[in-house]
Formats: sequence, structure tokens, C-alpha cells
Amino acid sequence: MNKENLKAKIQAMPKIELHVHLKGATRPETILKLAKKNNISLPAKNLAEMKEWFKFKNFNHFLDVYMQTAMCFMEPEDIELAAKEFLTEQARQNIVYTELTYTANHLTMSFEDQLAALNSAKSWGESHLGVSMNYVIDIPRSMTFGDHQERSQRFAKQAVSGMGKGVVALGLAGDENKYTVEFFSPAFDIAKEAGLPIVPHAGEAAGPQSMLDAIQYCDPPRIGHGVRCVEDKNLMALLKERQIHLEISPTSNICLGIFDTMDNHSFPEISAAGIPFSINSDDPPYFNTTLTDELIMAAERLDWSAEDTEQYMLNTAEATLLPATEKSALIAKIKTSWTT
Ligand code: ADE
Ligand code: ZN
Repeated sequence: MNKENLKAKIQAMPKIELHVHLKGATRPETILKLAKKNNISLPAKNLAEMKEWFKFKNFNHFLDVYMQTAMCFMEPEDIELAAKEFLTEQARQNIVYTELTYTANHLTMSFEDQLAALNSAKSWGESHLGVSMNYVIDIPRSMTFGDHQERSQRFAKQAVSGMGKGVVALGLAGDENKYTVEFFSPAFDIAKEAGLPIVPHAGEAAGPQSMLDAIQYCDPPRIGHGVRCVEDKNLMALLKERQIHLEISPTSNICLGIFDTMDNHSFPEISAAGIPFSINSDDPPYFNTTLTDELIMAAERLDWSAEDTEQYMLNTAEATLLPATEKSALIAKIKTSWTT
């Protein structure tokens, strides 16, 4: 398919995103607004300074910036505002369904109030914009306060309490090299007992062993990133055999130094190996990207035909954690757009 037609097709088609963080998708303008409203002092005072601040020296520098901006959210109305803006941007790109990662690490708000704020934005998005979302509630590996073991179990219990109210999985994000997956296994057991899937970040800042641990302790249907699986051929065979889906965010991986250039990114090798994957934006304004841009780049690199592009979107719909009837409805919605 010629480049221009492929680009136009991807721009127009209904899309799905499986790996994007609400705090990481919030516009710098909104972060500045929330910081001012909530009396939070950030190292960046205006958009130009935010742009400088978002030049990440390494992975831990990114996490430090991310944690500081996330702390600008103090009230449920802040979450609702960011979530409405998020859905507005998803609708602009025709991203009809998102599984949104949300870190509920706020001392000023109860989990119930945070979930209610997300769901208020979700209802608004469904009725006003025709787009929807559900949530992955993640355990931040790099919590800045409190007892990690106790808090991780609390996050898991909160995620379980949100089942049936939009929460479709428990996640694990943050500094992959600081705490192992095994450390959090009591929290994962809480999710497993309740039948809540676990979709951890792994194989991003750390290598194959971190993914093997994630498979052992989380039994994940999907892994966030997982792009370093190419360092271990046995792991690649296991991912293929179990059809564990990798949520790949190419530009994030370049900005955070996982690969030095896009030419050296592992996604073509992962695709060729028959491991299921999706393309995602992770924290789009932080990496100056959008899902549409990521998909166009990947489709060009993988030389997708129109049919490949359609099959990709159907595979991504299959990889959602929606209940069967809602998944079928999403697949039908996507297919209809190609025939009408
Ligand atoms: N939180 C937000 N983005 C992240 C990433 N790419 N890795 C780990 N934790 C994150
Ligand atoms: Zn992520």
C-alpha cells in the first residue's frame, strides 16, 4: 500500500489503545494549571520550561519528572478534567476504546472518589464523543512514601473493588530495577484470587529475567513493553507459545534510552516471531507523540497492506480485557467502519 494511502487509512480508522497512562497523557498546559490551582511548586513554570524539563536524561530522570507532575492531582475534579481532556484527544484521533492505566497514589483522595471521577468522565465521553475506556489500576514500583509491601496490597484490593466499575486489570509500573516482580507477589495473589487479570510493565528498563518473573508471578495475558524479550530466544518462544501480548510503545522506548535509534528497535523482530503485540503511546505529551503517529511509523516499517492494518486492529480488539459481549460489539464496530 502506498505511504499516503496507508497514512490516511490509519488516521481515519477506528483505533484501540491498550497502554497509555492518564497522568502521562495529561497536557503540559493542564499540569501547569493544576500546579497553580493546588499550590504545587514545579521546576517548570511555563510551557517553554516544561519542554526543557521533558528532555529526559535517562529512565530514572523520566520517573522523577513523572512523579512530580502526577502529584499535581489533588482533587477528584482534577482527575475528571484530565480524563475528559484525555478522551477528547482520543476522540480526535478516532481511538474508540482505551484501556487506561491509572495510578491511584493520592493521600488527598479516596480510591472510590478517584474511580468515580474517572467514571464521570467516561460517561461523558460515551455520550458526547462516542469513545469509551476502562482502567488498569497499577502498583507503582517506585512509591515515594509508605511501606511498599502494605501499600501494594492496598492497591490490589482497591483494583479488585473496582471490578464491574471499569477496572479490568491490575498493573505494575515504575522502576523495574528497584523492586522485583516477586516482591509484589502477595498483591498479585489478591488479584488472582478475585479473577482480576494482571498486566505488568516488564522487559523495558530491565531484561528478560524481569519478564520471566512477570510470567511466573502474574500469569499475564499482556505485558507492558516487553521489548527486551529479543535478548532471550527461549523467552520469545514462550511468549509465542502462550500468545502473551506485548504492549509496545516505540517512541517511549527511544526517549527513555531502551534503544538508541528506531532502526534498532525490536518490534519488527517481535512481529516476525509471531508474538502478539500492539502499538501504543505510553505517555504521549512526554514523548511528543500520538498513537496515530506511532501506528503510521510502525505500519510503514512493517510494510503493512490495508488487510494487515485491519487484521492488526482486530487482533488488538481481541487483546482487550473486555467481557465477551462487549468485545464482540467493539469488533463489530471496527469491522463496520471498513464496509460502510
Ligand atoms: N509510568 C509511566 N510511564 C512508564 C514507563 N514507560 N515505564 C514505567 N513506568 C511508567
Ligand atoms: Zn507504561
